Amino acid sequence: MEFVYLLISFFFFCQFNSFFYFQILLFLQIDSFINIQYFYSFFSSSQLIRYIFFLQYLKRLNQIDNEGASGLGSALGKCTNLSKLELHLNGNEIGSKGISGLTSGLGKCTNLSKLTLGLQGNQIGDGYESVLVSDLRNCTNLSNLELELRNNQFDKYAAQDLGFDLGKLTNIKKLKLELGRNYIEDEGVQWLSCGLGECINLTNLVLDLGETDISIEGALQLAYGLGICANLSNLTLYLGDQIQKSQDQFKVKSKYLKLKRLIFLEIEW
Ligand SMILES: *[C@@H]1O[C@H](CO)[C@@H](O)[C@H](O)[C@H]1NC(C)=O
Ligand SMILES: *[C@@H]1O[C@H](CO)[C@@H](O)[C@H](O)[C@H]1NC(C)=O
Ligand SMILES: *[C@@H]1O[C@H](CO)[C@@H](O)[C@H](O)[C@H]1NC(C)=O
Ligand SMILES: *[C@@H]1O[C@H](CO)[C@@H](O)[C@H](O)[C@H]1NC(C)=O
Ligand SMILES: *[C@@H]1O[C@H](CO)[C@@H](O)[C@H](O)[C@H]1NC(C)=O
Ligand SMILES: *[C@@H]1O[C@H](CO)[C@@H](O)[C@H](O)[C@H]1NC(C)=O
Ligand SMILES: *[C@@H]1O[C@H](CO)[C@@H](O)[C@H](O)[C@H]1NC(C)=O
Repeated sequence: MEFVYLLISFFFFCQFNSFFYFQILLFLQIDSFINIQYFYSFFSSSQLIRYIFFLQYLKRLNQIDNEGASGLGSALGKCTNLSKLELHLNGNEIGSKGISGLTSGLGKCTNLSKLTLGLQGNQIGDGYESVLVSDLRNCTNLSNLELELRNNQFDKYAAQDLGFDLGKLTNIKKLKLELGRNYIEDEGVQWLSCGLGECINLTNLVLDLGETDISIEGALQLAYGLGICANLSNLTLYLGDQIQKSQDQFKVKSKYLKLKRLIFLEIEW
């Protein structure tokens, strides 16, 4: 009963005031914290189940804005022993400031080793001058990162900023970056790949660039950028139907096959 009550009040407050939302979040945190390895471990503890419900509930809210996301970040930043976190906030109203706030909180969780941020269908990329994920660089154990950013508001400059930030996360080994349905263009992809080239420990990359308005030029430039990732051995690239001619697809694929350390390559059109 208590749990149901909390959710309802959470919902109620969240509709009107993200400060209340933040307070309740803190309350939940003090009440039931936790190691959030729930996706991977047993669901035996009632506290864990409570938190799972809570996060799943968040997922469905369509009200979380920059302030809300930053509040969530601050709250999560108090859980400094967090090692794996999967947070799905798809379809909200989170912009660049929001993701900065969220990751600045998470940057305090220095034991974080795997992080998944589901942020599809938000507004990230608006006001690209603000930092996106650079505060995660303090998480020196972070080796596995998944950023689901499909259908946001990235343009080429925002893509450049993201690349620059990601380039600072030199301990990342596995990266999944979903940037489909953003207006990135060739230039943005080129700049993004310069950043990714700085991730010297990157071994596995899954990159979704479907519907980003890139041409064969962008796809070839990307290969050049990724060629600098000295340890990249596994690449999955989704380009969608932007490159349609089979001779162009052949050209692109040949270019990637020349990447020296690549053992596994999959390009989806
Ligand atoms: C994380 O820290 C909290 C309090 O700081 C503690 O109760 C909890 O047991 C810790 N969890 C792990 C997995 O160390
Ligand atoms: C990080 O993890 C190590 C070992 O698992 C632990 O000793 C340390 O206290 C943790 N650090 C924080 C900030 O929780
Ligand atoms: C990251 O570390 C730097 C230097 O230790 C510190 O100034 C900064 O505040 C930290 N950022 C976060 C988000 O904790
Ligand atoms: C990284 O993880 C190791 C154990 O895997 C732990 O001993 C160490 O404290 C962690 N580093 C930080 C910065 O928390
Ligand atoms: C790359 O990974 C190695 C081994 O995992 C580690 O020792 C090194 O510090 C990492 N490099 C950087 C720049 O973080
Ligand atoms: C990445 O490559 C460098 C040099 O090629 C090597 O020293 C380092 O250990 C590699 N890191 C990983 C994680 O394989
Ligand atoms: C490469 O990555 C893909 C997708 O993450 C995975 O399915 C595949 O098993 C990996 N292959 C190798 C050889 O590591």
